[in-house]
Amino acid sequence: MKRTLFIALLFTVVAGFVFADTQVGIVLPTKDEPRWIQDQTRFLDALKSAGFSAKVLFSQGDSAKEKANVEALISEKIKVLIICPQDGTAAAAAADLAHKAGVKVISYDRLIRDTTSVDYYVTFDSFMVGKAWGDYLNSKVPAGSKGNNLYLYAGAASDNNAFIFFEGAWSALQPKIADGTYIVRNSDKAVALKNKAKLTRDEEAQIIGQVTTNWNFNDAKNKAEANLTAAPKEAKGTVYICAPNDGTARAIADAFAADKDVKTYYITGQDAEIASIQYIIDGKQSMTVLKDVRTLVNDAINAAVAYMKGQTPPVTSYYNNGKKDVPAKPTAIVTVTKDNVKKEIVDSGYWPADKFTGLK
Ligand code: BGC
Repeated sequence: MKRTLFIALLFTVVAGFVFADTQVGIVLPTKDEPRWIQDQTRFLDALKSAGFSAKVLFSQGDSAKEKANVEALISEKIKVLIICPQDGTAAAAAADLAHKAGVKVISYDRLIRDTTSVDYYVTFDSFMVGKAWGDYLNSKVPAGSKGNNLYLYAGAASDNNAFIFFEGAWSALQPKIADGTYIVRNSDKAVALKNKAKLTRDEEAQIIGQVTTNWNFNDAKNKAEANLTAAPKEAKGTVYICAPNDGTARAIADAFAADKDVKTYYITGQDAEIASIQYIIDGKQSMTVLKDVRTLVNDAINAAVAYMKGQTPPVTSYYNNGKKDVPAKPTAIVTVTKDNVKKEIVDSGYWPADKFTGLK
């Protein structure tokens, strides 16, 4: 009797442990990009002291897998879903499912579009990311010079951020495209729209369609090589390259560096990936944008806690997703170049010094 009771008790405890409800589900787009491994690592760190049970799942670039992840989490009775969509529009169906199950939905870094089932958006100030690229390139153009070679690249059209980054970049670059400071060398749509300060989403989509990297290293490399093959010699020499993130920036930078007619290039990025910080130290990438993932993770966790307590998280602005003005709290970004890399990346504790060589 005693023994049976003991076994029954043990079973309950083990089962309780194995099948315990997960309170917060976190779904990230892919393990194949260092950016999202950064987020996973920072989440796992922060969750140690968060005081609730959570689980991180990856969608591996597949919206069907993303939806299956969300369904699995709903069946584990999550209260809050923190999700960075692979494809902003496709993820609406998963958000709707969660909402129907009474789950609060927090869009993480990327906005889920065309649904009212998004409660909150934690994000960086993506407009300022793009503007930082444009400001940086502008700062490298000799004053009063004309006809400087500009190459534009963008993220995936399925990612709402790609549009916001582009909008920010355009806000800084367009006046200097319009006045002839730059000639855009790889997008005739951008050339055709050069006198429009504010583009419609459709116009942005036309340009992004020509210069997209799909956030993919190989696509970025192939596109840069194709652009260089098509470009005449006078479109090379000194070039200004607006690259949308660190992974694609390294691929594009390598392609430009390999072209004998390219003498000097300036290239942007974002994410402060370790490999790109090394590229910056080595003079192979000009800048990156530090988006401190620790802040984003904390904002997401605090929002989840607020919802579980029946409260609402802090709101400082709204982002329209096509169906709703989603309450949000965008976080500031930092431009990192060779000049401040030690201060912003190492001294700040973002990455340890032993990840890099040649850091002064
Ligand atoms: C993120 C970037 C990231 C890119 C590619 C964007 O939505 O904001 O940090 O580099 O996706 O994954």
